Amino acid sequence: MIDARLPLTDIHRHLDGNIRAATILDLGREFNIALPANSLEALRPHVQVVENQPDLVSFLQKLDWGVKVLGSLEACRRVALENVEDAARAGIHYAELRFSPGYMAMNHQLPIAGVVEAVIDGVRAGCQQHNIEVRLIGIMSRTFGEEACLNELEGLLAHRDGITAVDLAGDELGFPGSEFLSHFNRARDAGFRITVHAGEAAGAESIWQAIRELGAERIGHGVKAVEDPALMDFLAAQGIGIESCLTSNIQTSTVAHLSHHPLVKFLDHGILATLNTDDPAVQGIEIAHEYQVAAPQAGLTAEHIRTAQENGLKIAFLSEEEKQRIR
Ligand code: ADE
Ligand code: ZN
Repeated sequence: MIDARLPLTDIHRHLDGNIRAATILDLGREFNIALPANSLEALRPHVQVVENQPDLVSFLQKLDWGVKVLGSLEACRRVALENVEDAARAGIHYAELRFSPGYMAMNHQLPIAGVVEAVIDGVRAGCQQHNIEVRLIGIMSRTFGEEACLNELEGLLAHRDGITAVDLAGDELGFPGSEFLSHFNRARDAGFRITVHAGEAAGAESIWQAIRELGAERIGHGVKAVEDPALMDFLAAQGIGIESCLTSNIQTSTVAHLSHHPLVKFLDHGILATLNTDDPAVQGIEIAHEYQVAAPQAGLTAEHIRTAQENGLKIAFLSEEEKQRIR
């Protein structure tokens, strides 16, 4: 259960993986984009995971229609604002929303820095209307290669003040972190906080690499850490947090069944692991589902769940002073 006395966080939540199906229909009409279906019900299987996918790359394809309808910067602003609305409605007090500006820009040749600005603006407007605190994480989508990621980083640097951290997401197996060393050197030099999707599709070595070479302070998913006892010790000793996304890990076939998920082992080992959604609209879940359904199925006790909830703010990309002000 969610402890109502503690702040509820979601620090691994993709804004471009949470575009409402109704908004996809609406924007499809506005920009004259032929969608695979024209009703909410018929569109749903194209934009939502209705059965578990064989791998991460197949799962990621479900995000494609959402960004295909982003025909203007105003559309990007709209989905950012709606994301804040959705997170606030889900009862989240503090969210870190992440987005890949190049992925959002690519179908309609939008300017990447313009997308970053539109997202910052939409989030700011959303925060004025709702009782929620939000920070933004800029993603470099490894799937599109080094040069595309460099363009994303430059777009993020153009609006440095509105972005808290950077991340590397997408096809982890096809594009190892070693290809992005110079990107992360630049990101760290600019003072961005660092989180990296690692140990989701690839193994524990990808997590070591993210920490040692990319400077990751937190790891997205990190499922494969459980296969390396030295890494488990290191994560706990260094306070490197794991952003767990239970349902996502089932839907991408990263983990075969929730009863095999390593989150309990992470928490028992003293690793600062948290519960998060990943891509809520694409997955058809919300954060409450992760606490109330997925976590118990993964073997977490009420105490594990409370610890995971506390960890959310502990590893948030906020100063200690800012943490005090949440709720
Ligand atoms: N982008 C959106 N969801 C993702 C995931 N689970 N792994 C990597 N990249 C992603
Ligand atoms: Zn993710």
